Amino acid sequence: MHAIGIDIGGTKVAGALVTEAGDILRLERRPTPAGDPAAIVDVVVELVRELGDGQQVVAAGVAAAGFIDAAQATVYYAPNINWRSEPFRDRLSERLPGLDITIDNDANAAGWAEYRFGAGRGTTDMTMLTIGTGVGGAIVTNGRLLRGGFGAAGEIGHLRVVPGGHPCGCGQKGCIEQYGSGRALLRFAGEIADAGGIGQSLARARAENGGLLDGTILGQLITDDDPGALAALRELGDWLGQACASIGAVLDPQLFVFGGGVAIAGDLLLDPVRESFLAHLPARGFHPEPRFMVAQLVNDAGVVGAADLARIHAAAASTET
Ligand code: BGC
Ligand code: NA
Ligand code: ZN
Repeated sequence: MHAIGIDIGGTKVAGALVTEAGDILRLERRPTPAGDPAAIVDVVVELVRELGDGQQVVAAGVAAAGFIDAAQATVYYAPNINWRSEPFRDRLSERLPGLDITIDNDANAAGWAEYRFGAGRGTTDMTMLTIGTGVGGAIVTNGRLLRGGFGAAGEIGHLRVVPGGHPCGCGQKGCIEQYGSGRALLRFAGEIADAGGIGQSLARARAENGGLLDGTILGQLITDDDPGALAALRELGDWLGQACASIGAVLDPQLFVFGGGVAIAGDLLLDPVRESFLAHLPARGFHPEPRFMVAQLVNDAGVVGAADLARIHAAAASTET
């Protein structure tokens, strides 16, 4: 039977009808309504109804960018959205009676999809980092998604890399999210533009865009081999590599997978990550080196993973009763 996966992103809510093999039968996208969580609930309900129309659906999984509880019902906290102790599943269940609904972390969903159907196939221990507005994490250990004691394990974005560093949306300072995200990349690019020298094209592009750099502009300059844009990407990769070295010491994955918008850069991102990882790797030379890859499912990982995790949840629930 099919499952529905929904992925709530910063700009788009994606929904898909997904088979057991991870294939997408139908995909829909809506703009993410700004501000009000209730408006997001409306969009999710609409998508689930539409995708499930005339179909036999076992479960629906909804991926959201925040700390999720062990019952997979409540968003404890979302650093970059206005959600605090949000009883998301109940709000959805009220409107979608009879359907098994679970909430999952967006990066967990993406990482699970990569593990099952993408870059992580054939491994047992894989760590995924999603590089977007925030930095998301998913940890697969011994073939299972690590959820932790309270549900919110794998919040790699809030690993501290700089004591007393940049303030983060989580309420702390110096998290890798502030040095390894798409936003951080734009900040680095801005600093390089300010410094002149190799930053001249960045500065020009910024001026032409009314004083603001964005992902599209930076992506284009990276494609054009602009030295300033590439330096910003290297700085990002350097921070991410440091974080991976610490993560590696704790989790010892065989593979690190990078997803999210910035991962489109491929080896231009992975090369500096690897280099910095090796420079910071504990027991270097005496410890096997993990592989680094970019995500294979790209934009679809969230919906595919959310659907698959919801299916697993529904199967476990039905054997319990
Ligand atoms: C949140 C995570 C989320 C990540 C990517 C972080 O700020 O804490 O829950 O997975 O952003 O969206
Ligand atoms: Na996570
Ligand atoms: Zn943080």
